[in-house]
Amino acid sequence: MAKVKTKWVCQQCGYESAGYLGKCPECGQWGTFNEEVISAIKVQNTSPQGIINDTKPSLLNDIRIGEEVRVSTNISEFDRILGGGLVQGSLVLIAGDPGIGKSTILLQASGELSKNGKKILYVSAEESLSQLKLRANRLEVNADNLYIYPQTNLENIRKQIDEIKPDVVVIDSIQAIYSQTITSSSGSVSQIRECCNILMQIAKTQNITMMIIGHVTKDGNIAGPKILEHMVDTVIYFEGDKYKSYRILRSMKNRFGNTSEVGIFEMQAKGLIEVKNPNEMFLNERSQETIPGSAIIVTNEGTRPLLVEIQALVGTTPYPSPRRVSNGVDSGRVLQILAVLEKRVGLNLSKQDVYINVMGGAEVSEPSADLGIALAIATCARDVVVDPQTVIIGEIGLSGEIHPVNNLEKRLNEAVASGFKKAIIPYANKDVKHGKIRIVPVKRLIDAISSCISPASV
Ligand SMILES: Nc1ncnc2c1ncn2[C@@H]1O[C@H](COP(=O)(O)OP(=O)(O)OP(=O)(O)O)[C@@H](O)[C@H]1O
Ligand SMILES: [Mg+2]
Ligand SMILES: [Zn+2]
Repeated sequence: MAKVKTKWVCQQCGYESAGYLGKCPECGQWGTFNEEVISAIKVQNTSPQGIINDTKPSLLNDIRIGEEVRVSTNISEFDRILGGGLVQGSLVLIAGDPGIGKSTILLQASGELSKNGKKILYVSAEESLSQLKLRANRLEVNADNLYIYPQTNLENIRKQIDEIKPDVVVIDSIQAIYSQTITSSSGSVSQIRECCNILMQIAKTQNITMMIIGHVTKDGNIAGPKILEHMVDTVIYFEGDKYKSYRILRSMKNRFGNTSEVGIFEMQAKGLIEVKNPNEMFLNERSQETIPGSAIIVTNEGTRPLLVEIQALVGTTPYPSPRRVSNGVDSGRVLQILAVLEKRVGLNLSKQDVYINVMGGAEVSEPSADLGIALAIATCARDVVVDPQTVIIGEIGLSGEIHPVNNLEKRLNEAVASGFKKAIIPYANKDVKHGKIRIVPVKRLIDAISSCISPASV
């Protein structure tokens, strides 16, 4: 018998090597190499049915396109992140932590799609028929054209796709299925790549929409390869604090729509319920009496501005070196803001612990949150409150200057809609149309602080 040939594959990025490597030269990760058997049938990859093989180049001007067909999932938040519904024949990857609700949302979406006259094949590679039925009962999914198929073998799945001819196929999950043309175990990079490749061909040649669930590793990457993200049309991340009830769907890549769109859901016994007015939810958690160290910012996530409360706690440290803890914002960003507060405003924080928390478990990555964070810290340190009817928007530069932000008009409209009366904004944005809100344009951080710490607000 011939000796089995193997190769070593980085499970992170798919880099291949003849021998074991400690550190991946491609992605720089340590200890990610696994040995995988080289499959003899590998050459079949570009199969006769392959989308690449039987097409000839066309002149751009000669290409006629059919109308881009979108199907609504009847879940408007989900439709929105997809760019206005599922595009027929597209491959959508939904990734998220264990237990976050990936199967839930896709089962709900399947039920709704079936109501819209679509035929769905839900491949459950992780759960049994009865487990799925139990979930469907709990979610009150009652669909006529929804086939549930517990299966891990891709060739069998393919056979059923040919037989049932569904409009939509759900794969739950890509890490749990395997193709018998590849000898390495399910979940390995080679398997995931091959399975995704085949699913892609099915989607494109038969115009079937594929929704694929992918698990996420500890460090937040889609388990196994980043390659998956390159192959599929749309990547949606499912985020949220497992200990709280809301979940955020975020589109990271979309060949058919806007990225950085977010959809917000609440996990209830009957499944994921859309949150139509997320500002209410994020601000609801706000304490009734205003306390020092709280500031409301308006971030802009995708096409929607979000009002979020930032809280700071500043106090004399009992430790040799003070603590800096931030939740929901980048800690490097907070350190930079602290440095500017010390150097440009003269706030002495060297013996103070500083804790920053974004309320409601939201994640804020936008620089326009800087000014809100700085004011939360400064007002807490000075023990005064920011006027609770004020929103704060602006990016802080290293010399303490306030930089302009994009989409300010939209942010202000959202603040007005949520009942805010005043906005501290960057001076460079002072000509913004602002409707029914009083604007306070500021050039420097110190101006923003003195506008808050006025006698009226103490
Ligand atoms: N009766 C219930 N009431 C409220 N929430 C529930 C109930 N049962 C389950 N859940 C929620 O559903 C979540 C599990 O959802 P789901 O199975 O869709 O997640 P998943 O992302 O598919 O997980 P996995 O990675 O294990 O496949 C639980 O973490 C819990 O929050
Ligand atoms: Mg699941
Ligand atoms: Zn790598």
